[in-house]
Amino acid sequence: MPVILAIESSCDETSASVCVDGEILSNVIANQTIHEAYGGVVPELASRVHQQNIVPAVQQALLNAKVSKNDIDAVAFTRGPGLLGSLLVGVSFAKAFALAKNLPLIDINHMQAHILAHFIAERKPSFPFLCLTVSGGHTQIVLVKDYFDMEVIGQTLDDAAGEAMDKTSKILGLPYPGGPLIDKHARTGNPDAYKFPEPQIPGFDFSFSGVKTAILYFIRDNVAANPNFIQENLGDICASVEKRIATILLNKLKRAAEAYNIKDIALAGGVSANTGLREGLTNLGAANGWNVFIPKFEYCTDNAAMIAIAAYYKYLKGEFAGQEIAPLARMPISPLTP
Ligand code: KG4
Ligand code: ZN
Repeated sequence: MPVILAIESSCDETSASVCVDGEILSNVIANQTIHEAYGGVVPELASRVHQQNIVPAVQQALLNAKVSKNDIDAVAFTRGPGLLGSLLVGVSFAKAFALAKNLPLIDINHMQAHILAHFIAERKPSFPFLCLTVSGGHTQIVLVKDYFDMEVIGQTLDDAAGEAMDKTSKILGLPYPGGPLIDKHARTGNPDAYKFPEPQIPGFDFSFSGVKTAILYFIRDNVAANPNFIQENLGDICASVEKRIATILLNKLKRAAEAYNIKDIALAGGVSANTGLREGLTNLGAANGWNVFIPKFEYCTDNAAMIAIAAYYKYLKGEFAGQEIAPLARMPISPLTP
C-alpha cells in the first residue's frame, strides 16, 4: 500500500498529489496568472511563483487526501523536460522533504507521465498502444510498449500543436494561454468557413510553422481590408484553425495506427483538452474500430496526479533516485530517441 506524494513544477502550474496504492486521493493545481500580461510564460517569474505555491499546494494535497506527512512512503517529482528554474523548485522541495523524512525519491519524465495518466482511470489501454501527445512544447506519436518503454515514432519538426494554438490566439489579440480560448470561440463558429493548408511531411512527423504563417497572412490581409474582420468572424476563424490543427494531428495518427496495426489509441497532453480534437478522435476511433482513450480534463493539462501514477509503477519496479539527482531541461521520452 505505498503512499506517494508527487510534485509537478515543470512549467507554470505548481501541483501536488497524493496517491495510495495506485489510487489518486488528491490533485491540487495552483495556476499562475502572472504570465497573462506578458503573452507567454516568463521563466524567472514562474520559478518565483512556484516557490510561493509549493508548500501550500503540498499541504492542501495532504489535507484533501486525509494523509499525514508521516504516512508517506516515497516522494516523486518531475525531473524534466521543462523550464530549468521551475523544475529546480519541485526537485529541491522533493529532495528536502525526502531527506527530512528519510524517504526514497522517485524521478519522473513529464512526457511519460502525460501518457501514464491513462492508468489513473478504471478503463486502461493495453500494451502496445499508440499515444498522440500534444502539449505546449511537444507533439509526438508515441508507441507505448510498456510503462517505461516508449518510442517516439513521429514528432513535430518545428512548432508544437499547443504553440500553434497559442500563437494563433496571440495574432487574434486574445490573452495567454490561448488554446482554451480558441476552443471556447470555436464552439460558436463554422469549422469549414476558412481553409488553411495541410503540410505534406513524410512519415509520421508534423510541421506547424507553415500553417502558422498561413494564418498570420490570412488575418493580416483580411484586417487590412476590414479592420473589424477579427471581431466579426472570431468564431469562424477559431473553429477553422482548430479544425485544421486537429485534422493534421488525426490524419497522421490514423496512418500510424494502420502502419503499426494497433487499435488501442490514446490522447495526452494539454491540447487533449481541446473539444474539436477530442470529438475528432472519438469519431475517427468509431469509424476504424479503435479503443479510444481520452483523459479526464483535470489530467490533460499539467498536474501532479499523472506524476503520482507514474511514480506508483516505478515504485512497484523498485526504481528510486538518490539525493544527487538534478533536473533536466531536455529529457527524451526514451533514452534511444534524440
Ligand atoms: O501539457 P500542458 O499543460 O503543458 C505543457 O507541458 O506544455 O499543455 C499546455 C498547452 C498550451 O499550449 C495550451 O494552450 C494548450 O495546452 N491547451 C489547449 C486547451 N487547453 C490547453 N489547446 C487547445 N484547446 C484547449 N482546450
Ligand atoms: Zn505537460
